[in-house]
Amino acid sequence: MPKLFINTMGCQMNVYDSTRMADALKVLGYELTDNQEEADFLIINTCHIREKATDKVFSELGRFGQIKERRQKEGKDTLIALAGCVVQALGDEVLRRYPIVDIAVGPQSYHELPELVTRWLRHKGQRLVAQFSSDAKFDHLPKAQAKGPTAFLAIQEGCDHFCSYCVVPYTRGCEYSRPLEDVRQEAQQLVDTGAVEITLLGQNVDCWHGKDKKGQPSTLAELFYELSKIEGLKRLRYTTSYPTDITKEVVEAHKSLPKLMPYIHLPIQSGSDAILKAMNRHYTVEDYMCVVQKLKEARPDMAISSDFIVGFPGETDKDFEDTLAIVDRVAYAQSFSFKYSARPGTPASLLRDQIPEAIKTERLAILQKRLLQHQKAYNKSYIGKTLPVLLTEKTKKGQWLGYSPYLQNVHVESPDDLYGKIVDLRITDATASSLTGQQ
Ligand code: 5AD
Ligand code: SF4
Repeated sequence: MPKLFINTMGCQMNVYDSTRMADALKVLGYELTDNQEEADFLIINTCHIREKATDKVFSELGRFGQIKERRQKEGKDTLIALAGCVVQALGDEVLRRYPIVDIAVGPQSYHELPELVTRWLRHKGQRLVAQFSSDAKFDHLPKAQAKGPTAFLAIQEGCDHFCSYCVVPYTRGCEYSRPLEDVRQEAQQLVDTGAVEITLLGQNVDCWHGKDKKGQPSTLAELFYELSKIEGLKRLRYTTSYPTDITKEVVEAHKSLPKLMPYIHLPIQSGSDAILKAMNRHYTVEDYMCVVQKLKEARPDMAISSDFIVGFPGETDKDFEDTLAIVDRVAYAQSFSFKYSARPGTPASLLRDQIPEAIKTERLAILQKRLLQHQKAYNKSYIGKTLPVLLTEKTKKGQWLGYSPYLQNVHVESPDDLYGKIVDLRITDATASSLTGQQ
């Protein structure tokens, strides 16, 4: 069997896409491997969101080049492909910029991979690029297969929000919602092949409006109720939410659907109204807090996470302090924070008042320290409590590792086989990054 290695960079959508690429390539007999040295086919699934992510592509391709060279001496062919948002952003330029790449495939065209590979194998030396395809890729991908107890399921792709810093509307295109029945079938396939928990993915998951059997648009809340009927599916999650797109039905679902986990990723980006406006985010801090309050009323134990950008053009010390203030007000359970990265083609990259790198670095360090303090306090508040934990893997140290309903990592020592099981664990210790539990 030929071996396939995929290095996935970036977001959960890329993680999902990588699993779907692997599913698509099974048709040609490719089997996934964790060992890039033995791979006949090497793929990098790239991210374009920040400059740093894009820079990593060069070094990774260098490594792939060495592997290809070594294998060539052994008389073996190695196919190198670049996938993901960098391909979409660069277009035909991609092959010129990365001479080592044989095939480049944009996020909308993964279903074309088997054909591209077949063509490459037939006419070696011919370099191929596939970008936006007119067909919806989801209709052409084979059945999904769970790779473990937790699975991602993309229900929506693209974004029409056009935040002024973000490349997603350009790389992933405008919003597209998969039909309800397709999503239901894929969820069923994932559960049939071992998934216990499914995370519904979309750049703007709350905007999902997939058509039902009658061709009428349905809502995310309706989808939650529909998927909750799947026997064997124990947990349902969704990400990412745009704060003001959350409907009262979604809030209500958190109250009435036990399978819907009490965790929401609700990126605020900044705690300053002026910066939010410049970011073209269509809410104020108080609008955001109103959403938080409604969610907490529905589920008092709701865990809230966020993304933050520091050093957006024009961000003053006062704006940054406002961000720290919102961090203290919400007391986030988890967070992701980044230095603003000017991306080509985005309106914010043209703003004059760019913030010096040193200030961005300093603000990021202060913010991350504050976020970690909250994360640690949040985790410690569970000491002495009992949580149902879904165990997903055994670590090298022999402990079981899994997730609480609030998406905290939980470790437990146990002689039992807990793989894929939801087990009540008493929390005995906690750090900023994980909890320790006992059976
Ligand atoms: N610079 C820094 N962070 C960014 N993000 C998106 N675009 C940029 C950028 N140009 C962050 C946002 C978003 C997350 C996925 O990435 O916080 O929510
Ligand atoms: Fe990017 Fe904004 Fe769309 Fe999120 S909502 S993907 S940050 S444009």
